[in-house]
Amino acid sequence: KAGIDRPPLALSALGKGGGTPWGMMKMDVQPTGQACGAVVTGTDLAGTLDPEQVAAIRAAWLAHHVLVFPDQRLSDDDLERFTLAMGGFGEDPFIAPIPGRQHIIAVARQADETAPIFAETWHTDWSFQARPPAGTCLYGITIPSSGGDTLFANQHLALDAMPAALRARIEGLQAIHSAQKAYAPEGFYGAADTGRSMDIRPSETARATQLHPFIRRHPETGREGLFGCLGYIIGFDGMTDEEALPLLVELYHWQGQERFQYRHRWQKEMLVMWDNRSVLHAATGGYAGHARCLHRTTIAAHQ
Ligand code: SIN
Repeated sequence: KAGIDRPPLALSALGKGGGTPWGMMKMDVQPTGQACGAVVTGTDLAGTLDPEQVAAIRAAWLAHHVLVFPDQRLSDDDLERFTLAMGGFGEDPFIAPIPGRQHIIAVARQADETAPIFAETWHTDWSFQARPPAGTCLYGITIPSSGGDTLFANQHLALDAMPAALRARIEGLQAIHSAQKAYAPEGFYGAADTGRSMDIRPSETARATQLHPFIRRHPETGREGLFGCLGYIIGFDGMTDEEALPLLVELYHWQGQERFQYRHRWQKEMLVMWDNRSVLHAATGGYAGHARCLHRTTIAAHQ
């Protein structure tokens, strides 16, 4: 079968098939037309992916930074199997996994919930870890009819478009990352955060800090980008807070500009997989009175 009707690797994958001639399934990757992201069809993620399919999906992911797979009927087992195929599980601190699973958390909100929207500011997942996760998978289970979009901001473009004078101010800086503002006992999701349906577990361990270069080469593509932002970044090594905080605020506004964004509109049974090394993301509200629930896994980084 090899060689018959077979598009280039990044655009195709052999499926387990059945529905197409010779059991072949063509994977199609359509860019969103926004600053990043592509919609992938013609692949069934519920089955076991063969190495060519995994390679094709990962290649598309590295090219587009956010992949959207609509119409995927995935059980929690399927979501775990897909995450393992993409690189294995990262470590998820501060949020308890759903019952019976070690590596799946629920990003959930009840219809009558009044706590602030979870993760409504730009961030890249768990950037305060020594080896932050390569990616995140989020699967739509209960999706409101409007609102609840997820925003992504392409940090390669944010660096490419940066004025030389601003870049000169951040060249060579090591950012200090920490979960303290979010998950320490007095943090945003700490003791004062009540009435939330998500099972968040604040901890003293959130005070730990970790340095990462702010301008960073993507470990797989080698492309330079900005890594992280104000929030999990609490300062710059060797800089006073008086200097660092206004700079971080200025950068935060730069990094999240609309021209660097992809706005993702959810559907039920849609899987989104993003590259934490290339994009920032942020949740949005706008669905008061409606429930929303997605299952999330993180993909470990190996370099
Ligand atoms: C997240 O940051 O994992 C949540 C994104 C969302 O709820 O849209």
